[in-house]
Amino acid sequence: MVPPTAVANSVAAPASGQSSGQPVGTPDSPAIKDPVKDTILTPRFYTTDFDAMAAMDLRPNEVELEAICEEFRKDYNRHHFVRNEEFEGAADKLDPETRKVFVEFLEQSCTSEFSGFLLYKELSRRIKDKNPLLAECFAHMARDEARHAGFLNKSMSDFGLQLDLGFLTANKAYTFFKPKFIFYATYLSEKIGYWRYIAIYRHLEKNPESKIFPIFNFFENWCQDENRHGDFFDALMKAQPDTVRGLRARLWCRFFLLAVFATMYVRDVARKEFYEALGLDARAYDKYVIDKTNETSARVFPVVLDVRNPRFWDRLERLVENNAKLSSADASRAPAPLKAIRKLPYWIANAAEMAALFLMKPIRSEEFQPAVR
Ligand SMILES: [Fe+2]
Ligand SMILES: [Fe+2]
Repeated sequence: MVPPTAVANSVAAPASGQSSGQPVGTPDSPAIKDPVKDTILTPRFYTTDFDAMAAMDLRPNEVELEAICEEFRKDYNRHHFVRNEEFEGAADKLDPETRKVFVEFLEQSCTSEFSGFLLYKELSRRIKDKNPLLAECFAHMARDEARHAGFLNKSMSDFGLQLDLGFLTANKAYTFFKPKFIFYATYLSEKIGYWRYIAIYRHLEKNPESKIFPIFNFFENWCQDENRHGDFFDALMKAQPDTVRGLRARLWCRFFLLAVFATMYVRDVARKEFYEALGLDARAYDKYVIDKTNETSARVFPVVLDVRNPRFWDRLERLVENNAKLSSADASRAPAPLKAIRKLPYWIANAAEMAALFLMKPIRSEEFQPAVR
């Protein structure tokens, strides 16, 4: 999984929903779904400096990386992603509103997984000759992400829709990140992906009546893939210790934690209907996932955020409010320049909130979780 975005652009654009009038096919002949409009909240595709990646010296943590690669080779989920009879007719049981939010969830997840696949695949291909251990790890992770994306896309076809992944590959804008920023962003996205999937899985285990689709039965083993991917980036950052020590690293870690958490919170609250369909409260769910991801991040990042401080959540709520105002300004029929004038105060307010959040006193990881470091 790769994050929706790791750029703390203060402009929280509206999450675009499934467009109305979208052609819908049948499970046997699914229609190709138009990709949603790119916004700050939609998944992003990444590219990086492949030469710098190839030249990376892994010796400071080679033993751990080799052990992780050995785990990848075992391919625990080789036989996991096999559809069963439970999927037959499952899509027909959803009411139209749940169906709409669920398809959005599938699309967003599929795009994120696929974006991970593309990045890892390209990395493994480009550094194969110069850095075989790293290349092999990326190849195994690309294998996992391809499976995840494929499984989600197959579920979309149960609803008569499918993402054209070839089209996405060729037409999405790619964001360039230096390797260390790729590490922060993908580490967080893998770990947050782990907590997101396991939280839903455990909730549905206790509340089976809310299991609206059989894909959730697959989340337990699935999230273990994401957890291993996160552990790989943890080990990789420890092999490049400058990425996680010193003042600059502390500032960048805060920035990425905030960007990932704020984006997820704003996006999930705007789509709270999906979580309601699962019997979850979007805010409570996000608070849990953010708290757990923050705690996990303290194992490798030098600082983490003070997410148990109520002011942190007050400020995120203001981002949510501003985002709602931006969405309604966008939805109006006013001409573009007028829309921009109406949106300007909310952009400024968002920038101010993000700056205030960024400046909140962080927590030194060694003070936060001494036992696990
Ligand atoms: Fe994945
Ligand atoms: Fe992953």
